[in-house]
Amino acid sequence: MTSVPSVHSTALQQRILAAMRAVFPSVTADLHDFYAMMQYHLGWLDERFAPTSASGGKLLRPLLAVMACRVFGGRVEQALPLAAGIQLVHDFSLLHDDIEDNSPTRRGRATAWRIWGVPQAINAGDGMFALAHRAVYGLSDVGIPPERVLRILRDFEETILRICEGQYLDMSAEGQLELSTTQYLRMIRGKTAMLASASTGLGAQVATDDAAQVAALWAFGEALGLAFQIQDDVLDIWGDPALTGKPFAADLLQRKMSLPVIHGLSNASVEDRARFEALYRQPDLSRQELETLLAILECAGARAYAEALAHAEYERAMQALERVAPVDQAALDELRALAQSLLQRVR
Ligand code: IPE
Ligand code: IPE
Ligand code: MG
Ligand code: MG
Ligand code: MG
Repeated sequence: MTSVPSVHSTALQQRILAAMRAVFPSVTADLHDFYAMMQYHLGWLDERFAPTSASGGKLLRPLLAVMACRVFGGRVEQALPLAAGIQLVHDFSLLHDDIEDNSPTRRGRATAWRIWGVPQAINAGDGMFALAHRAVYGLSDVGIPPERVLRILRDFEETILRICEGQYLDMSAEGQLELSTTQYLRMIRGKTAMLASASTGLGAQVATDDAAQVAALWAFGEALGLAFQIQDDVLDIWGDPALTGKPFAADLLQRKMSLPVIHGLSNASVEDRARFEALYRQPDLSRQELETLLAILECAGARAYAEALAHAEYERAMQALERVAPVDQAALDELRALAQSLLQRVR
């Protein structure tokens, strides 16, 4: 398998990565592999722990955090501790998510649990969770007032709790063919939109105490995050695994109630619905059976529906930005451009 190429080309992405690297301790030889497993997941090391330049992901959330901070006059270096912490929380959640979802590949490479086993991958995720906190505490070292740091940390913890709630709902919904769109939206609001929301909301909080402005940034990130997860569901089925770095139709194999599945079931003919449900209840699915599921979803207009809903959430995100009175107009334009670039994303 060829790994997904690294996309960390910009100076800002390099600074975010440097801030993440800075929270890793230097350790004695007996602990080397513990941190090296985390660095494998981050795309910095290969399976044998030699340096590599594999993809560590798009770094979307930390980019959002830095831009949101700049919108209100904050400096990049003031947002970096938060940005690093947010990406490390994202990666902690992915280390565990790959176990929870039984996923064999991430970013075009074998997942950590497949190489070192589930117990070590859980523990590597826990370590990354703690490193994420270590990163955010760094806000005190870049001149952010203590009360602001405390508020950010409190909201950061609440965010992580919401993510875990969302993951609980996601796993509980597997194979639950009656799941409604409302229940689905509640689930993805937790598991995905919450961190996108915190990225922009907390990014703003680094630079301002203006509650209305901060609320607009939380709302912007939430709508963006909802759109992002709906697109992720679409890419799982109709994306190119060479670009997503994830296996084809992993959600269907795990019997996830993704949006295309929910809509497909409610919109399919009686006969197709029965066929889909019967296949979803089987313990195993052949490639041909997977193709049948896909054909049913396609025929029920599931892809077009999901894409339209993602689009509607993007629109909501853009509307939230209209409430923003920026200190730095150019930064707001950059933030809007980054969000817009996600509309057509293929990875
Ligand atoms: C993957 O997020 C997990 C979801 C919430 C859909 P990304 O698509 O941002 O993953 P990376 O970090 O860029 O690999
Ligand atoms: C991931 O959702 C959400 C979190 C990790 C919190 P998914 O399970 O859909 O993400 P991928 O598709 O594995 O990246
Ligand atoms: Mg998952
Ligand atoms: Mg997953
Ligand atoms: Mg997914």
